Amino acid sequence: MKVCVVGTGYVGLTTGVSLAFLGHEVTCVDLDQAKVDMLRGGKCPIYEPGMEDLLAEAASNLTFTTSYSEAVPGADVVFVAVQTPSAADGSPDLRYLSSAAESVAHALNHDFTVVVNKSTVPIGSGNWVDAILRESFATREDRPAGVEFAVASNPEFLREGNAIADTLYPDRIVIGSDNPRSLEVLNRLYRPIINQTFTPPTFLPRPEDATAVPLVSTDLASAELIKYAANAFLALKISYANEIGQLAAKVGADITEVVRGMGLDQRIGSRFLQPGVGWGGSCFGKDTKALVATAAEYNLEMPIVRAAREVNTRQRAVAVERLQDELRILKGRKIGLLGLAFKPNTDDLRDAASLDIAKSLIARGARVKLHDPVATERFKAEQPELAPYLASTIDEVFADCDAVVLVTEWAQYLELDWSKFVGLMRTPILLDGRHVLDPDRMRRLGYRYVAVSG
Ligand code: UGA
Repeated sequence: MKVCVVGTGYVGLTTGVSLAFLGHEVTCVDLDQAKVDMLRGGKCPIYEPGMEDLLAEAASNLTFTTSYSEAVPGADVVFVAVQTPSAADGSPDLRYLSSAAESVAHALNHDFTVVVNKSTVPIGSGNWVDAILRESFATREDRPAGVEFAVASNPEFLREGNAIADTLYPDRIVIGSDNPRSLEVLNRLYRPIINQTFTPPTFLPRPEDATAVPLVSTDLASAELIKYAANAFLALKISYANEIGQLAAKVGADITEVVRGMGLDQRIGSRFLQPGVGWGGSCFGKDTKALVATAAEYNLEMPIVRAAREVNTRQRAVAVERLQDELRILKGRKIGLLGLAFKPNTDDLRDAASLDIAKSLIARGARVKLHDPVATERFKAEQPELAPYLASTIDEVFADCDAVVLVTEWAQYLELDWSKFVGLMRTPILLDGRHVLDPDRMRRLGYRYVAVSG
């Protein structure tokens, strides 16, 4: 099938490259010429494991352009995956979405095109995009006859750092539309994934337990709400583990054992119960905020979602309090942070816990040293005021240090020769911000091991 993808961020690029890999003819459109040039050269503008390999494997079915009139005409499906940043009041800023919809409407010329909202958009946006498309199409002097289109929602559940596996081997596909023909077109588009009939990429074999992928075919509003409800639930699952972690610390319980004991109950499940400095990234914060804002439009409170947000903010402060408990005085202390990205396998720094922790330590007079195996270039560009605190080696972080905090659990850090670094520190305080290091082992090596919860 012929596919157009508008926007080459995490969602758009992964969607486009994956569909091209499956054999569809895909054109990705992005207004950023530099990005398009990079992609044409086979280079990926975002850090995402496997993406350049998949780009290479799918190259014969992929085109990149800045022009809507090259990308939209003839497409059976147009995915709109532009950014929807938070406005000041927490509601998503939909300017990019509206202008993308107008541009699509000016280029539509196929007998039937499904325009799919792939960005996370507020509930009701499907109808809003439909209205923009119809108004813009109606104003076209050159509008061709016999052109039909309909809007659908197809929320994305991929995780950064795991984007390709999440797309090719998803837990489910959700399609929302009030138009049966759209549902049929999207069903056809995703058939190879639903039935798992494609030959896997050479670098990413099909998981042994992969089975046919459930398709949730529903109305527009339900599909839009599924996305928010799922993200908010994952966020509150983490916050719940962190709230219990605070109590565990008080009563002398081991939160790692507590969540293990909880998670083995299949009704609860062990994933997204990892305690620590909490969630960051571009999604959980933005989506929980938007859910609360949408509910408020209907005079509804969302106390559970609100509380999950508060607990998450508190976790970052708790990390600093733990250091204060250990060191008493933070002024003049040298404190190293291992990990800046909001999670491993990405260079994304949006709403990363590291930023709040570093700023709070600096405000208290500490001398911080920051390290990340991948995100430093992006860090320099996005956080110029914090760039002078970057360390270029791990040795530099530990040398004469009063405490080190593991903020992001990169594999490189888990596999460090921890025995080598303890001797470099002035006081060997190790704060495990993710509860991933073995406390007994660390203590045997000479560290004073402390975790965020306990
Ligand atoms: C999240 C969702 O997991 C995806 O399903 C969704 O598609 C995506 O948002 C989105 O809406 O675009 P992502 O933000 O990439 O994906 O990352 P996650 O793996 O969900 O991690 C989010 C944050 O939670 C990270 O900071 C991570 O360190 C933290 N986390 C995760 C915990 O603190 N504990 C856990 O047990 C799991």
